Amino acid sequence: MTLPATAQATAPQILARCRDLVRPALTQAVRRLHPWPAEMAAFSLGWSEVGGRPVPGPGAGSHGKGVRQALTVLCAEAAGGSAEDAVAGAVAVELIHTFSLLHDDIMDGDETRRQRPSVWKAYGTGPAVLTGDALFALAVETLADSGNVHSGAAVRHLAGTLNDLVRGQAEDLLFEARPWTGPEAVSPQEYRSMAGHKTGALLGCAAGLGAVLAGAPAATVDALARAGRHLGVAFQAVDDLLGIWGDPQVTGKPVHSDLRRLKKTYPVLAAVSADGPAARRLVALLTSGDPLDDTAARRAAELIEEAGGRSATLAEARHHLESARDSLGSVPLAPAAVGDILTLLPFLVDRRM
Ligand code: IPE
Ligand code: MG
Ligand code: MG
Repeated sequence: MTLPATAQATAPQILARCRDLVRPALTQAVRRLHPWPAEMAAFSLGWSEVGGRPVPGPGAGSHGKGVRQALTVLCAEAAGGSAEDAVAGAVAVELIHTFSLLHDDIMDGDETRRQRPSVWKAYGTGPAVLTGDALFALAVETLADSGNVHSGAAVRHLAGTLNDLVRGQAEDLLFEARPWTGPEAVSPQEYRSMAGHKTGALLGCAAGLGAVLAGAPAATVDALARAGRHLGVAFQAVDDLLGIWGDPQVTGKPVHSDLRRLKKTYPVLAAVSADGPAARRLVALLTSGDPLDDTAARRAAELIEEAGGRSATLAEARHHLESARDSLGSVPLAPAAVGDILTLLPFLVDRRM
């Protein structure tokens, strides 16, 4: 059953309402691809198994939370438009998100995503790169052909985001080779910039796009995009936490992979820059030159927590959530839709997947 947009709906209900609204157009868009990338796209969206057999049951295809598409729909409503105005934008951000995950798993060497093999593991790296490219092109085409009178502005809005996303991934990858301590160490400000680009940009785009497609004034678009960006940084900080203390059965992603690759995630950056014995032991462990095996990774996780990295990361996430709320309060918006967005914010930070 599709629920109406009410302030009383729970976060899972809000996400489900938006997913149900967007799913037919998303399915139709993916069908326009060449059958081979279409099969891989359907696999990565959770709609089918390797080989193309559809996943049975009503839950099929709900592997992702659908945060970005929901933001686009809710921000269109918040800006005084209808949910229908936003559908092409929601499809575009979901396609870009899926593309970025396909390529990201190759860059990070991660073998699982959403409780199944990542696309490069299931189909090979070349086909996974191709599928990412196909989804990227499809996203731009979907938005350009949406028939919405604001589609030109919407495509421009998306284009800037794509550059930011590449910038964020470049920073993330280059940071792997940076030291943990000393003048070359990654600063919290550099982390925020990287997370703002690799994750904040697309959530900001998702939010701003809803407002653009609803024909909202620039101040409204900017305020919603800013809220989305802050939410993105909060979301990434929590993603970093789940990469260390998450349950792979729940997150669907590997645990400790960031630690092994020496990713400059917020919990570790906060821990190594703290004073005290735990921080010193952690630095010694991370700079020993030996690859982290399971035991060493578990030990590193303990030391990060002891040095305060876990609580500092939660504080960082909550700070950005507060900034997101402030941005939402800075312009006049439709109260019911804002109520839904405010319901989603804490849910997206206090999450286990
Ligand atoms: C992913 O960042 C960002 C993009 C896909 C652009 P991460 O590499 O930190 O995210 P996960 O943990 O693999 O989902
Ligand atoms: Mg990754
Ligand atoms: Mg990555």
